[in-house]
Formats: sequence, C-alpha cells, structure tokens
Amino acid sequence: MNTEVKSSIVTRRIPFEFTDDINAHWNPDKPEFSQMWNGLSLTMPFLEPYLIRTMREGLRLVDDPMVLADGAAFMAQEGQHYQVHQRFNDILKNNGYPELAEIENDMKDYYKKLGKKPLARKMAYSAGFESMTLGATRFIIEERSKNFLHADTRVASFWLWHMVEETEHKNCAYDAYQAACGGYFTRAFGVLHGTWGVFWPGVRAAVLMLKKDGLWNNWRSRLRFYRSLASFIKYVAPYLLRSMMPGHNPRSEKDSEWVKEWLNSYPPEATLAEAPLVDTSTPEMPVPKMKFIDDGVIHATT
Ligand SMILES: [Fe+2]
Ligand SMILES: [Fe+2]
Repeated sequence: MNTEVKSSIVTRRIPFEFTDDINAHWNPDKPEFSQMWNGLSLTMPFLEPYLIRTMREGLRLVDDPMVLADGAAFMAQEGQHYQVHQRFNDILKNNGYPELAEIENDMKDYYKKLGKKPLARKMAYSAGFESMTLGATRFIIEERSKNFLHADTRVASFWLWHMVEETEHKNCAYDAYQAACGGYFTRAFGVLHGTWGVFWPGVRAAVLMLKKDGLWNNWRSRLRFYRSLASFIKYVAPYLLRSMMPGHNPRSEKDSEWVKEWLNSYPPEATLAEAPLVDTSTPEMPVPKMKFIDDGVIHATT
C-alpha cells in the first residue's frame, strides 16, 4: 500500500465513559427516540466491521494513492465507532434487554452471508449506506436541540461524534467503489440494500426494547415512536434518492456548519484529556470544548 500520500481524515480515540447504570431512556423525555437510536446502535458492531472487511478487500484492486490513504483512514474511524457502540450496547443488554442477543445473532448470520456476495455488491452496500448516512447526520445535528435536550450527555455526545466523523469520511466508500468496481445500477441498488440492511434490525431492536418497557401497547407512546421515525425518514429520504441518481457523488452534499466547527476545533495531533461532552442543558448545544494534553498540561479550546 502506498503510504506517501496522507489522508486528511483523522483517527480519534475518544475516551467516552459509560457507567453500568446508564439508562436506556437516556433522554428521559423521549424514551421512544432513545430506544430508536439504541436499536441503531445495536447494529453498528456488525455493520461497521463488515464495512472495514469490505474496504480492505476492495482496496486490493485500487492503485490511486489518495483512495488508498482515505480507505485506510475510513477503516480506522469505523473501528473506533463500533468499539464505542459495543461498550454501550453491552451495558444496555445487561440492564434488562438480554433478548437483544437474538437480533445480534441474526445480524451475525446476515453479514456472514453478505460477505460471500460478489465484491461489487458488497462495496455498493457500503457506499450506499454511507451516502444515506449523511441524511441521518443532518437529522442528528439539526434536530439536536429537540432530541437531545436534557439527555445524558455521554450518549448524545458519542452519537454526535460518530455522525461528525461520518461526514468527514463521506467520500471514502464511494471513491473505493468507483475505483475498484464502478457501475451505476449496482451502486444504486446498494443504497437501498445498505439502508434496509441496517434500518430493519435497528427498528426490530427498538420495538423489542419498547415492548420490554411496557410502552409498545400504549398508543401515545406508539404514536411518539412513529413520529420520531417519520421525522428521521423525512431527513434521510432526499439523501437516499439523490444517492441513487446517476452521477451522484457524496462530496456534492453540503456539510453542516456545526460539523465543520467540531472538526476544526479538534487538534489533530492532540491527546484528549477527556471526551468532548455537549452541554445538553441548553437548546443551542454548541460544539463542545476540546480539552487536550500538551506537555503534560491540560489545555481547552476556546
Ligand atoms: Fe461509523
Ligand atoms: Fe461511516
């Protein structure tokens, strides 16, 4: 692999800390929203290792040093994401939802089977999922004051960090697909395939947890869940449709100012003193200050 070209994408090892008493309803005002995102979190330690394996396999066919460097950075970021999700999910399962293990087993089988498909199909799944994710990012960022107000900042901040990095590496899976395989129809199908492959087990897990909470048969709660889902779909659908257009390229999607500010305030060579936590007590939820260690001294961004 050519190592002379350096990717601008940063690998951040962020020390998010989850204690064993973390509440599944980490936004006490929005248990349905919390469970929806807990359901999506459950999928990540299955999806993201698959994205890494597929990228690694695909890069063997790529010569472009920039695509190779970005692909390596993509794998490093996704590796960090799923490890944090895994820690969070384990606490969730231990705190009253051991039945989630059944959905996890199904996902294990699903990605094992998917792993045997032709490389173009697998890379299109990755590229499609990653393009669609930009809609989920926009939803999380723009609706943060609505959805994360009074929420447990550890959970809100880790989802926001994940989504910030999804924006940062938005081109990687697409570029790798174009360089290794190419082809419009497979890529367009990959958008639907990748979206459904994650969305369905995520919703299934959310419904299981809401049933366990005794909320699923409460019509007000059910309505709030559907509203939350509809609001998510409203953001994601245009990205999904644009991603399926011929000639679409994720780099043409505009990045949110909050995301740019988060990325610019992170010192790339720094060792963080603690995880950057968003102030969820205020609806503005500005970009958190980054506290980092330099020469043994803790500094904070202004
Ligand atoms: Fe990720
Ligand atoms: Fe990603």
